[in-house]
Amino acid sequence: MSFTIKVNGNTHNVDVDGDTPLLWVLRDVLGMTGTKFGCGMALCGACTVHIDGAATRSCITTIDSIGGSAITTIEAVGATAAGAKIQKAWLDREVVQCGYCQSGQIMSASALLASNPRPTDSDIDDAMSGNICRCGTYARIREAIKQAAQSGPQGG
Ligand code: FES
Ligand code: FES
Repeated sequence: MSFTIKVNGNTHNVDVDGDTPLLWVLRDVLGMTGTKFGCGMALCGACTVHIDGAATRSCITTIDSIGGSAITTIEAVGATAAGAKIQKAWLDREVVQCGYCQSGQIMSASALLASNPRPTDSDIDDAMSGNICRCGTYARIREAIKQAAQSGPQGG
């Protein structure tokens, strides 16, 4: 079937089965490999994207469930105010180790900051609990989110 999806402000027509996960459409059809495959079962967060601003696991989101919603991926989240602050803080705090989980971490953190400009530790834990990091970068992730939250008003 043919589906029209909006990714990072661009419209794409894709010809796939309706139950194809968005993750595979992004990676294999559109060639956008910044979004990672980890578990395929909504357990690790590596595949996180935004759908209408909400952090969403693309590995279990079928293409026929998306409709006209706006998809944002790691390739474009830096163009949003919250995403730019998160990415700067990630660099300042040298969060990344192997990097594999980090696209998903940044997407979850950006969605949190866009909806909650002053998250508490509990808010951060709630928002980030589904994003697993085998390298154990959790402490730096928390500090980076706090730095981003202190860096001014949020938007987008
Ligand atoms: S690959 Fe989607 S949550 Fe792990
Ligand atoms: S930085 Fe290696 S898995 Fe998170």
